Amino acid sequence: MAVKNFVPNGDNTRLLRDAYGRFATGVTIVTTMTERGPIAITANSFSSLSLDPPLVLWAPDRKSRRFVHFEAAQRFAIHVLADTQREICWRIAKDGFGLSDSDFVMSDVGVPLLTDCLACFHCEQHSVFDGGDHAIVVGEVKHASFDDSRHALGFFGGQMGTFVPQS
Ligand SMILES: Cc1cc2nc3c(=O)[nH]c(=O)nc-3n(C[C@H](O)[C@H](O)[C@H](O)COP(=O)(O)O)c2cc1C
Repeated sequence: MAVKNFVPNGDNTRLLRDAYGRFATGVTIVTTMTERGPIAITANSFSSLSLDPPLVLWAPDRKSRRFVHFEAAQRFAIHVLADTQREICWRIAKDGFGLSDSDFVMSDVGVPLLTDCLACFHCEQHSVFDGGDHAIVVGEVKHASFDDSRHALGFFGGQMGTFVPQS
């Protein structure tokens, strides 16, 4: 059966995750600095939020070993990935301290910035809200950049793909 109906409860979170996964997203890597060095996380919960003031959000999972770092981060960067960046996407999904020296440069305020991405938002923490088993981190965008000549990495149904605009 292609269509599944259910009432979400603690026993069917896999189904709910699959339903959420029908919403096609881009993929980002969020970075910040820790005492142990740069930390990063692959995240598709990113969303633009407000133009004036310039705000974006993403949602770190409270169960993640990286959560404490990202909840506390006063400065962080969100990188939107191009379709050529699957390797770093999966590498960072597996290992928060998996950035290599050639992957990033340090910003003048001490945030690791990926040297290659589709768009980048340098953020200061604006607010953190409760989001159930996730937190909702809102960032104020202090600087933004983007490259409009490449295709985006997409995520749908647990799989990566290339988003190619069609008119
Ligand atoms: C495409 C994709 C999107 C993800 N989005 C999020 C996200 O929005 N928030 C989050 O906390 N983790 C997200 N994750 C999971 C983390 O990238 C990472 O795999 C997880 O935090 C690993 O557990 P650890 O932090 O305990 O090592 C995503 C993973 C993938 C592959």
